[in-house]
Amino acid sequence: MNFLQYKQGRLHADNVAIAELAKQYGTPLYVYSQSHIANQFMAYEQALSHRKHLVCYAVKANSNLAILSLLAKLGAGFDIVSQGELERVLKAGADPKKVVFSGVAKSVQEIERALTVGIKCFNVESEAELERINQIAEHLNKVANISLRINPDVDAKTHPYISTGLRENKFGISYQLAPAVYHKAAQLAHIQIVGIDCHIGSQLTELSPFIDAADRILALVAKLKADHITIQHIDFGGGLGVCYDDEVPPTPAALVKVLEERLDNYLRQNPDLNKDSIEILLEPGRSIVANAGALITQVEYTKHQEGNHFAIVDAGMNDLIRPALYDAWMKILAEKEPHIDDKMYSYNVVGPICESSDVLGKQRELSVAQDDLLVICSAGAYGFSMASHYNSHPRPAEVMLYETPTGQSKAKLIRAREALSDLWQGEIL
Ligand code: LLP
Repeated sequence: MNFLQYKQGRLHADNVAIAELAKQYGTPLYVYSQSHIANQFMAYEQALSHRKHLVCYAVKANSNLAILSLLAKLGAGFDIVSQGELERVLKAGADPKKVVFSGVAKSVQEIERALTVGIKCFNVESEAELERINQIAEHLNKVANISLRINPDVDAKTHPYISTGLRENKFGISYQLAPAVYHKAAQLAHIQIVGIDCHIGSQLTELSPFIDAADRILALVAKLKADHITIQHIDFGGGLGVCYDDEVPPTPAALVKVLEERLDNYLRQNPDLNKDSIEILLEPGRSIVANAGALITQVEYTKHQEGNHFAIVDAGMNDLIRPALYDAWMKILAEKEPHIDDKMYSYNVVGPICESSDVLGKQRELSVAQDDLLVICSAGAYGFSMASHYNSHPRPAEVMLYETPTGQSKAKLIRAREALSDLWQGEIL
């Protein structure tokens, strides 16, 4: 299902003309489809509806308050990795008891705040972190709920920068060392073991790495049980890929099915456990928001020289870093529907930033002229949330498309375009 469609030769997002959005809000502009986000989240919810579960949206994918609030209203939990993300989800109305806290470098202040508001669980990534949490909890006279994030040493078969479950990655506690760390946790007075966690990478387009990780995690759960350490939830992480080009990633339902098969198999082998003994947690980010968003940009100039054709646009790697950082391929559509008799060139779509890596798309067959609009698809995840001020460009505005009760499609500003003065906010002459 795509929220971008041509109608009478012009590109629309959820029935709203892209040209109208650009006119009203300016460019570069992020647009999101509320219904698409809700549908993606509900795909996870429905797949898990018959058992104890919590879908914790990974806030880093897109942390706009309007998106967090929409998901909170739909019952989402949240996977956070900083106090900033914690404050965002609280501001958006989330229940702290549905928040899990991942990340390798949790500071004293972050742990204190998370304990004070009463989050569901810390996903602990090292023995040193476990000790720090215990000390802070003691100081606050509280008991911290924890999972250990296990590094299962499986190959996620994705880009190395977004692969996290290999032995050499900084994430998690090694599979081999995990039992000893669990035993240590069991001895700490201000620590309560509640779960086990893993996250092996992002943009996974096959099920096999998820299955390998699940098998390893369940083997560990069995071992811990034999040692009288009870696990109340298993967090299988996020990572389900989306279609940027021609990938055919598994659906949330297909992912849930294979995880449930493994878990049910384990439960069957343990007759003292029932279906509700172990809650399933997931931490999807990209698969909920990526294809619900797009970045609208305007062509400033075209340049044809030495056999190269450039469409120089007003959005750059400062607004959307994925192509520059990961060599990610993202679909680019012209706002005017291409015609067979249009003069097409193979364009490099490049931004304003003074870096040769500031390319949004290489060799795209397009027919464009100055002032035309282009739309970068699948930009709802890791787009705005990774945007910066590099080269002193204010960050773009963000707009949410929604349907009124009478079925009309409307746009609402959910983040104002930054002013130039925002660029030096906090700086001192
Ligand atoms: N849980 C943890 C602990 C994570 O580190 C991540 C993502 C997720 C969940 C969500 O993964 P997802 O469902 O979105 O794949 N900036 C990169 C992606 C980095 C992912 C980092 N961790 C990109 O644009 O491709």
